[in-house]
Amino acid sequence: MTHKTLGYGIIGAGYFGAELARIIHALPTAHVAAVCSPEDAPALAAEVGCDVVGSVAELVARDDVDVVVIASPNDVHLEPALLAARHGKHVFCEKPVALSYADADAMVTACAEAGVVFMAGHVMHFMDGVRRTAELIAAGGIGDVLLARAARTGWVDEEHESPGTPSWKRQRARSGGHLFHHIHELDVVQLLLGPAERVVMAGGNVAHQGTAADEDDLLLATLEHGPGRFSHLEWGSAYRRPEHYVELFGTRGTVRIDFQEVGVEVRTPDGVTRFPLHRSDAEDAERRVEYAASRSGGGVDYGNPAMRPPGWLIGIMEREVAYLHALLRGEREPDPLLAGLTDGHAARASIATAEALTRSLAEDRKVSVSEVPDAAPPARED
Ligand SMILES: NC(=O)c1ccc[n+]([C@@H]2O[C@H](COP(=O)([O-])OP(=O)(O)OC[C@H]3O[C@@H](n4cnc5c(N)ncnc54)[C@H](O)[C@@H]3O)[C@@H](O)[C@H]2O)c1
Repeated sequence: MTHKTLGYGIIGAGYFGAELARIIHALPTAHVAAVCSPEDAPALAAEVGCDVVGSVAELVARDDVDVVVIASPNDVHLEPALLAARHGKHVFCEKPVALSYADADAMVTACAEAGVVFMAGHVMHFMDGVRRTAELIAAGGIGDVLLARAARTGWVDEEHESPGTPSWKRQRARSGGHLFHHIHELDVVQLLLGPAERVVMAGGNVAHQGTAADEDDLLLATLEHGPGRFSHLEWGSAYRRPEHYVELFGTRGTVRIDFQEVGVEVRTPDGVTRFPLHRSDAEDAERRVEYAASRSGGGVDYGNPAMRPPGWLIGIMEREVAYLHALLRGEREPDPLLAGLTDGHAARASIATAEALTRSLAEDRKVSVSEVPDAAPPARED
């Protein structure tokens, strides 16, 4: 670890890559050295004063790049992560880190073997309300957790998108569909209940058949996290009444993390307590207004390179970047509650469960998550 100014290389200069670059640019001990992106790179380079490079190989080989930020579409995260590790560069990779367990495992393993950090961009870990919930549960505040329920649903009309050319975010092969693209809720549920052991999923494309977006628009997933611990999660764009929440039911009380009404509510026999989801009541209020104004329901809206993230989202991105930066500069110790983000655990666990759920739907059976690593291709012997 080092106290020097750290150089960052950005891969993907769209909605998220550009905002991450702006946040890094604002840090006094960081600089954005270069950006690589087939589109949007010149504008970002002009804004943050960095170089544009034509290939990932060129970016990772630069001496002034210490950390590679991967914010390209979900299906192209593997190659830059492996190349970065090969050049001894730390990796920050947006979620979902990969669309298969084999790829996620290869990325995490390559970084571990190279002795560099691999941090998954599971930004919900940096929400105050999620963190307080994790602390409350660890302290036994709602007793033994029996059940988590989560939903991230809404309705997407085809005419919201350019007909015939949906964003890559609505193409299953590129995004992984709602399950992978919106892996946040799965990740948070596993953070709070532990990893899933056996899973089953039903669903399909029930309301958008014949449109250019080919993702499943209704997904119902049930997870067993060990004896007496279950969760049920729903995702999709076939829901005329949008919902977005994570709820926990314990032997002593409940917690509702509400992303729509925005806030966290704890109910126990001692009474009802509420606390903000984001950094302040103002950020919670901003999100409440945004969701209420959304045509599809805020949870299934997508950003694009022409948009800036809302303030509440920039707030948690700032915390995420600040955490990684301080860790890499040796200015702080790892936070035990965030350890899973930088040791590969959260990345591997979320993709393993998503892959098991995908297999359950395809093969019409309950699947043990432990089957998934066995499905990875055998190591080459040459
Ligand atoms: N954590 C979150 O809440 C959150 C929110 C939005 C996006 N994301 C993630 O961030 C990543 C980027 O999403 P986005 O919203 O910025 O998408 P976007 O479509 O706005 O931008 C994608 C960018 O990647 C570039 N690109 C395309 N192919 C590339 C390649 N092969 N190599 C390098 N760059 C390439 C595009 O030119 C574009 O600039 C995705 O993995 C997405 O899931 C995370």
